[in-house]
Amino acid sequence: MFEQYLRNKIADAAIMHFMFIVAVSLILPPFFIIKLINTVVRRYRYSMDTIDMTGKVVLITGASSGIGEHLAYEYAKKGACLVLVARRESRLREVADRARKLGSSDVLLVCADVSDINDCKRFVDETINHFGRLDHLVNNAGIGSTYSYSTDVTKYAPVMFAIPHLKKSKGRIVVNSSSAAVLQPPQAGFYGASKAALVSYYESLRLELAPTITVSIVTLGYIDTEMIKGKHESKEATAEPEANSGLGAAIGKDFPVMSVEPCAKAIVNGTCRGDTYITEPQFIRVLFLLKYLCPELMDWFLHKLLLKKETEASPRPRGNFHESSHVSTFTNEGKLD
Ligand SMILES: NC(=O)c1ccc[n+]([C@@H]2O[C@H](COP(=O)([O-])OP(=O)(O)OC[C@H]3O[C@@H](n4cnc5c(N)ncnc54)[C@H](OP(=O)(O)O)[C@@H]3O)[C@@H](O)[C@H]2O)c1
Repeated sequence: MFEQYLRNKIADAAIMHFMFIVAVSLILPPFFIIKLINTVVRRYRYSMDTIDMTGKVVLITGASSGIGEHLAYEYAKKGACLVLVARRESRLREVADRARKLGSSDVLLVCADVSDINDCKRFVDETINHFGRLDHLVNNAGIGSTYSYSTDVTKYAPVMFAIPHLKKSKGRIVVNSSSAAVLQPPQAGFYGASKAALVSYYESLRLELAPTITVSIVTLGYIDTEMIKGKHESKEATAEPEANSGLGAAIGKDFPVMSVEPCAKAIVNGTCRGDTYITEPQFIRVLFLLKYLCPELMDWFLHKLLLKKETEASPRPRGNFHESSHVSTFTNEGKLD
């Protein structure tokens, strides 16, 4: 009988719409009310300024600039000891000096490439050798190369080496994904795909590690850092940011770009509270909902707003990308042309 029903496409569609209406009208309203009460209670219990991280050890990848740098400052203000990881040593030193002034009693610098698994093991080992514990692992390092598939700066490897230590401390993992993982804006195919893979991986890991270790998945909109100023738009993904170039310049006029300081503060507070999802700016959550409920509308919106604006912006260097089609393609060798 069930088979017969499945063959009947009209019945299938009718039941799907009926279930959808039931879900929207009966399940969602009480769910959102409970969620609201829960949020208010948790915010009251973990009042922002009372979260004390004194003596706790926080490892942040990609701490030499942007969001990672400011996460270090926010953790420092709460008294945490820090392990700062990135490739640019001079930048790490500057961040470490400021973090010490803001309240961190001990800061360890480790120059490492997170896409190298040996480096990932090394910086976790150095953390344990130095501090003897690890409380928060912040997987933040990332690149935003729009046109190359070399966006795979792994956020998977550090966690493998860190889990045993996080289990002992009942610690937390933070992973910096992106709203692109959900919204899939134009010209962010590789970036969005790598971020969606991260969400998928950490969602699964969260269930495996609960309740000992909590996992916070961060999905951000546009944040004012080097990344959206065109840092990784060259073929080598090494260009320094240029004023008025990159996607940031194109969207800044019509699409809000959040400052990095409040964003970092929200991430650290959310992580300390044990929030499962952290989205900044918060209106992006509404776009997530619209993406699921009316994807065609969101497609139209993103295409009109972002693709048009990005094309209007000043020409920028393009890496492994077919200029003419706005579609990334592979050559016969399986490499991007
Ligand atoms: N800015 C946004 O609008 C936005 C939106 C959503 C998500 N995000 C995510 O937020 C994270 C931080 O980005 P951001 O905006 O702060 O950009 P950013 O200022 O360019 O910072 C990226 C950081 O990652 C480090 N990094 C890059 N490749 C690395 C590697 N192979 N090994 C070690 N460290 C590496 C960089 O340090 P070194 O170059 O010194 O190694 C730098 O500290 C990224 O994962 C990004 O995808 C950003």
